[in-house]
Amino acid sequence: TASARQQTDLQGKTVMITAGPTREPLDPVRYISNHSSGKMGYAMAAAAADAGANVILVSGPVSVPPPAGVNVVNVETAQQMFDAVMQHVQATDIFIATAAVADYRAKVLENNKIKKTGDELTLTFVKNPDILKEVAALPNAPFAVGFAAESQNLAHYAKSKLENKKLAMVAANDITTSGLGFNSDHNALHVFWENGDKQLGPAPKTQLARELLSLIDEKYKNKPS
Ligand code: CTP
Ligand code: CA
Repeated sequence: TASARQQTDLQGKTVMITAGPTREPLDPVRYISNHSSGKMGYAMAAAAADAGANVILVSGPVSVPPPAGVNVVNVETAQQMFDAVMQHVQATDIFIATAAVADYRAKVLENNKIKKTGDELTLTFVKNPDILKEVAALPNAPFAVGFAAESQNLAHYAKSKLENKKLAMVAANDITTSGLGFNSDHNALHVFWENGDKQLGPAPKTQLARELLSLIDEKYKNKPS
């Protein structure tokens, strides 16, 4: 399409992206986390840097190398990710939350290694801050884009997240589609905004990131499509 060929220009804009999983410690040697590779977020960061934006990439632990020309802030826990995001949000024009943030953390961080005792182990978890929701609720909120990895009722859950978190856009992907998402180099997205939607891919994450960023740029600048 014409809009995809058109160069995305984000010169002078600051784009903050969260990426990767978070890691929530249980004791000095253990943590809970998830399978997020960070690839989609890192591809979004590379695309934003190519578009001339000042990019802040707040990343959980991943094995992919950071793209050139991007400011990386490495974090482990959801709380650390929240703090890093809040530190830079005032200067941010566009916020893109690709991170697979752990929804809960252990209520108690044990000082000593948890010993193997009974046949069952029960741990209590408490909710982590919803980084994206808090950002979108700020008085001078940036243009906020969320991701939604769903295993069922994709459109329904994606639209609920758009409304509940007061987002500008949500990019949803179906995690049950084999070969796509999490650890893959490919993905497909169904993007929703207030009065429209668009399907992107399946495509390599690098190409998909450029297409999604072009769509974000279009809606952010309120360009006619
Ligand atoms: N997100 C976030 N902080 C959290 C949880 C989620 O910033 N504590 C962001 C994710 O980066 C993503 C969006 O919110 O952009 C949606 O995440 P998702 O896990 O799909 O939604 P949740 O609101 O956590 O709901 P649920 O896990 O129950 O589907
Ligand atoms: Ca979640």
